Amino acid sequence: MSLLNVLAGELDQMTTAGTLKRELALKSPQGPVVNVEGKGEVVMLTSNNYLGLANHPAIVEAAEKAERDFGYGLASVRFICGTQTIHRDLEARIAKFFGTEDAILYGSCWNANEGLFQTVTTENDAIVSDELNHASIIDGIRLAKAKKERFRNRDINDFRRALEAVRGSRNILVMTDGVFSMEGSLAPLPEMVKISQEHGAFLVVDDSHGTGVLGRTGRGTAEELGVFGKIDAYTSTLGKALGGSHGGFTTGPRVLVDYLRQKSRPYLFSNTLPPAVVMGSLAAFDLLDSDPSFVTRLRENTAHFRRELTARGIQVREGISPIVPIIIGDTAKAISMSKELLDRGIYVSGFGFPVVPQGQARLRCQISAAHTREHLDRAIGAIVEVAEKFGVTAAAVNR
Ligand SMILES: Cc1ncc(COP(=O)(O)O)c(C=O)c1O
Repeated sequence: MSLLNVLAGELDQMTTAGTLKRELALKSPQGPVVNVEGKGEVVMLTSNNYLGLANHPAIVEAAEKAERDFGYGLASVRFICGTQTIHRDLEARIAKFFGTEDAILYGSCWNANEGLFQTVTTENDAIVSDELNHASIIDGIRLAKAKKERFRNRDINDFRRALEAVRGSRNILVMTDGVFSMEGSLAPLPEMVKISQEHGAFLVVDDSHGTGVLGRTGRGTAEELGVFGKIDAYTSTLGKALGGSHGGFTTGPRVLVDYLRQKSRPYLFSNTLPPAVVMGSLAAFDLLDSDPSFVTRLRENTAHFRRELTARGIQVREGISPIVPIIIGDTAKAISMSKELLDRGIYVSGFGFPVVPQGQARLRCQISAAHTREHLDRAIGAIVEVAEKFGVTAAAVNR
């Protein structure tokens, strides 16, 4: 069979099983309400636009100004002729925000993770990683020659076991998501900081879903859990709360950043971030730092959504993150429910295997500071109706 026949066969199987992912086209900017081609206006309940900055006028204006002052693109990687003053400004701003010494920009957080482990470890080192870490971490670790040890999700005893298993390695790098993107749960950072220190391990947190979202000032999962300043380094994204465009970074000790600038392959061999994204991201930090109401509104909206949904008999994974998964079980059912919700004006994605473990398909709701109570209540009403229609009661999903 030819390669294309094999691929077509698999696609057919996915279509038959009802698990084929289909992309809906938006005819509007990203926001709390979007215009979906063929459907019209719907409440967006499935984006990472946590602070509602994806179409914020101050950010759009900053991006337009960047194009006027700094052009459209750099046609280069950073070390050849792709560094503008604004790239340095954004790196300094990120470091200030995280209380770290320096930061390095990448084309995405995927690239930041891909460019970390293989660069800073050798076969004499070890990487200890949570089993539910993001795909970019899993793939990034695969590229490294270091010993690899996984521990069960957020399980401190198993974390200790994994550290013991690699005792004797020259250096140990510990890696965890701050917020697990399919669960909305937080890494047990206070315990991880303590145990990593006991083992002399270097703790890195990918806070893509925590940055701008958690903690009193949006500084992320570590601020939320009282260990801000105690994490050795972070990777994170500019593509979610911080304007939702593109780009990622690693931030931590200067020597780490200096080393990555010399050796990290996705940084060395991939184009520099465009000026519009850089100045848009700087504007996002300005908004976040000057107006605490973005973070407080997000927190209040999340609490309202979680509380009301639970009161109406829908079991959600407990927590404080604006990622609110409703476990359905069967992938085809989750996807059908998502379609039904769209027909009722609510856009929420269904996720199945292999994005989440087999049998744990879910609807993943995500809340934004830009949602009004009316948006959220409309979404809650529709979810309750669709759950009843599909026989998804609290008891059925409470596993
Ligand atoms: C935990 C985590 N890390 C990394 C990424 C990748 O971020 P980016 O879109 O900037 O590549 C994501 C995005 O889904 C994520 O959830």
